[in-house]
Amino acid sequence: MPTALVLGASRGLGLEFVRQYRADGWRVIAAARSDEGVEAIKALGAEAHKVDLTDAGAVAGLGWKLDGETIDVAIYNAGVIGPRTEAAQPVPRQDFDAVMHTNVLGPMMALPLLLPFVETGNHGRGGVLAVLSSKMGSIGGMESNRAWMYRVSKAAANAVLKAVSLDARHAICVALHPGWVQTDMGGPQADLTPQQSVSGMRRTLAGLTHNDNGSFHNYDGTPIPW
Ligand SMILES: NC(=O)c1ccc[n+]([C@@H]2O[C@H](COP(=O)([O-])OP(=O)(O)OC[C@H]3O[C@@H](n4cnc5c(N)ncnc54)[C@H](OP(=O)(O)O)[C@@H]3O)[C@@H](O)[C@H]2O)c1
Repeated sequence: MPTALVLGASRGLGLEFVRQYRADGWRVIAAARSDEGVEAIKALGAEAHKVDLTDAGAVAGLGWKLDGETIDVAIYNAGVIGPRTEAAQPVPRQDFDAVMHTNVLGPMMALPLLLPFVETGNHGRGGVLAVLSSKMGSIGGMESNRAWMYRVSKAAANAVLKAVSLDARHAICVALHPGWVQTDMGGPQADLTPQQSVSGMRRTLAGLTHNDNGSFHNYDGTPIPW
C-alpha cells in the first residue's frame, strides 16, 4: 500500500488530496494546524498530526514522528494569499511575515526534512516531493502584479523547490500549479472543482519521470516557465 503525506490538509485542495488518495486505498498521513483540521483528516481515515507549518519546533517534531517511514508522495500544500492588492505598493511587515512564513519558511523547513523519507519511496526508485505553488509565482509568465505579496512568495517557494531538487538522488521534486480552483482561496467563480484539480495533479504526479526533477507543472502536466 503506497503512502502519501499532505501538509496543510484541513480544507480545500489539501483535504481533497487526502480524500482521493484514501479512496484509492493509499495510506495517508496528513497535518493541519487546528483541532477541526485534524478531525477532518481523521474522518477520511488518515493519520493526522497537529502541525503549524510556521512553527519550527512542530515541523521538527513531525520529522521525529515520521522516523522509519517511506513516503511515495509528499505534498507541501499549505498556502495563504495575503492582501489582494491591485498594484506593487508598499508591504506592511505583518503581511510579509504572515505570507512568507507559511509559503516560504514552511517549505524551507519541511522540504529538506521530508526529502530523505521520499528518497526511499516508490520501492526504492524514489518518490515524489511536491510543493503547491501558483503560476502567479512564475516570473517568466508574470503579466499582472495583483496580490504581489503572494506572487513574490510563490516565486520564492519555486526557488526553494528547485534548490531542494538539487539534493535529490532518487526522488522527483516538482512545483505544481493547481489551476484556478473553487476553494476558500480561489472563490466560487473559479474554473475548476477541487476534485478536478486534485485528480489532474495526482495524474501528473503519477506520470513524472526522473527527467522532471526540479520542474514546474500545471495541474494537467503542462510545463510552466519559472
Ligand atoms: N485555489 C486556487 O485557485 C489556487 C491557485 C493557485 C495556487 N493555489 C495554492 O494551492 C494550495 C492550496 O490552496 P487552497 O485553494 O486549498 O487554499 P485554502 O482553501 O485557503 O486552504 C489553505 C490550506 O492551507 C492551510 N494552512 C495555511 N497556513 C498554514 C500553516 N501555517 N500551517 C498549517 N496549515 C496551514 C490552511 O489551514 P487552516 O484551515 O488552518 O487555515 C488550509 O488547509 C496553496 O498553497 C495555494 O497557494 C491555490
